Amino acid sequence: MVNLVKSGIEGLDAMLFGGLPKENQVMIGGGPGAGKTLLSFEFIYRGAKAGESGVFFSLEEDPKKIIQNAKAAFPKFTDIDELIGTGKIMIEGKDLLQEVFNKYEQTGLEFGKIVSEMEETIVKTRAARAVVDSSSAFELVIKDPVVYRRSMWSLAANFRRLGVTTVLTSEIHNPDRNKLVFRPEHFIFDGMILMYQSGEAARRIQALEIIKMRGYKHSFVTAPYEITADGFKIFSPEAITRQ
Ligand SMILES: Nc1ncnc2c1ncn2[C@@H]1O[C@H](COP(=O)(O)OP(=O)(O)OP(=O)(O)O)[C@@H](O)[C@H]1O
Ligand SMILES: [Mg+2]
Repeated sequence: MVNLVKSGIEGLDAMLFGGLPKENQVMIGGGPGAGKTLLSFEFIYRGAKAGESGVFFSLEEDPKKIIQNAKAAFPKFTDIDELIGTGKIMIEGKDLLQEVFNKYEQTGLEFGKIVSEMEETIVKTRAARAVVDSSSAFELVIKDPVVYRRSMWSLAANFRRLGVTTVLTSEIHNPDRNKLVFRPEHFIFDGMILMYQSGEAARRIQALEIIKMRGYKHSFVTAPYEITADGFKIFSPEAITRQ
């Protein structure tokens, strides 16, 4: 029996036939502006509302900006400050990445330092959910593809040991569904969700697909999504037939 963690995101749990397998690590891939950061923020927000604390590791954007953008996109999430105040939501900034990048040679070592800081935070805060946004930032500090793959594998193993359910965002350079090029991290992590943007400039269609979810069944349908004042709405047939 697989323990499931409800993402709390409308339509997504139905596509997942209940939720994300607990302690899994799930990549959310997409092109620029697909909504990866906002979707992963909502994962943490919904968890916090349900009493599960979550930590959002922002490797590239200032935490203040993450909060500001989330508030702007989701005006109905009126209790973000309160959840941050009570420690249910933690947003960790990663000037660390910059700091480590400046300080060390470009080997795999600095990656280990970043990951161990993250692990300490997860243990200290007893977080049940974690987000790493974006895992692609690690490429800045790991040039060698073999070291990169090995390092991502060790991140997956370490986070699994800590018992957190993790969402990691990943940049997809060609988000066109027919021309996808997968990267090593897409094979390493347990689950993968892709966010596509397609169509002509006049009407861009946004849709989401679960590519894999190890150890659990999931929808194979590509479902359109919208970002609304009250969070993401994913229009999956599973969600519609269950209403
Ligand atoms: N209030 C809003 N209502 C609807 N859509 C919004 C709103 N605010 C932002 N967006 C959409 O969300 C996108 C930004 O989302 P987000 O920052 O999560 O993208 P991302 O995939 O993380 O991008 P990047 O790869 O650049 O980090 C914007 O490009 C815009 O399309
Ligand atoms: Mg982002």
